[in-house]
Amino acid sequence: MKKIALLTSGGDAPGMNAAIRSVVRTARFKNMEVHGVFRGYAGLLEGDMHLLTARDAGGIVHHGGTVLRTARCARFREKAAQMEAVDILKKHDIDGLVVIGGDGSMAGAASLSALGISTVTIPATIDNDMNGTEETIGFDTAVNTVVEAARRIRDTASSHDRAALIEVMGRHSGYIAVYAGLAAGAEYILIPEEPFNRDALARDLMAQAEKGRTNSLIICAEGAADGNELGRWLDAHTGIDVCTTILGYIQRGGAPSARDAILGAILGSAAVEALEKGCRHHLVGMHAGHVRLISYDDAEKEKRKLETGLFRLADVLGTQA
Ligand code: ADP
Ligand code: F6P
Repeated sequence: MKKIALLTSGGDAPGMNAAIRSVVRTARFKNMEVHGVFRGYAGLLEGDMHLLTARDAGGIVHHGGTVLRTARCARFREKAAQMEAVDILKKHDIDGLVVIGGDGSMAGAASLSALGISTVTIPATIDNDMNGTEETIGFDTAVNTVVEAARRIRDTASSHDRAALIEVMGRHSGYIAVYAGLAAGAEYILIPEEPFNRDALARDLMAQAEKGRTNSLIICAEGAADGNELGRWLDAHTGIDVCTTILGYIQRGGAPSARDAILGAILGSAAVEALEKGCRHHLVGMHAGHVRLISYDDAEKEKRKLETGLFRLADVLGTQA
């Protein structure tokens, strides 16, 4: 393994830069050449790749986003595009490719591996929803961002005797909602994994208000309901003043937490070592606190599932009377 390429793909996540730094510097330490591909699979199809030096990876570890930039590239789902990418990688004499991204990006890497290119994927998405790994780069930072925002919103909502509804990201996953809701002491957490009944929620809000609760925090995962619509509905059906905030992209930016910067360092280095020792189609994930190499096929069989225990705990702790 003399020459490797590296790209970030899908939604950016805080800590991607720490992973880029780790891949570049580990590879340089091992005298490998590293070529950075800009804008994910879209840039790969254009052959937009440049040699990276150890110095290029300097001054980035504390920044959110990705210095390689990223993209969603619908065309890459087509076999013809994947074959074009294989030709481009071969033309540049690339021996292996490191992909940093979420489950879609991993599917892209798997398709390249099936066509004979050695790839390893570093899990990075704020959603924490990837099969085959218990942690993804970016999740911890996003949760901390939501908790900080929720505390601020709670301050103003409680001063006005309002209920605060906060819609958080996660696509089809409730991870961010449950972890942030638990940490912020939310009274209600709504997630796609657990169907909820809005009439029951409205009744409970009114019953709690009658018992003297003056404010409530409702954390709603984007996959569970449209926050604006639900907020308006609750306001109209409870007589309680409900203020709604859609946190949006603020959750995806910002400096990585120490945990995400450390994960980036560990997984970046492990990815280079994996390629060096001959891994061809593997996710470099975390399992029980340790790095674990798992083939894409085996990762696919290990469906990531939210621990409902935490959801139930949040529910118990959010009940006052
Ligand atoms: P993430 O990696 O954060 O989950 P996406 O799901 O948008 O983000 O995937 C990122 C990119 O990976 C897509 O834009 C596409 O280029 C590629 N991709 C996604 N799914 C597949 C697939 N099934 N086969 C090949 N490439 C895919
Ligand atoms: O996958 C990360 C994520 O931020 C999801 O939580 C969200 O649903 C989606 O990306 C938003 O994607 P886009 O940047 O395309 O709007």
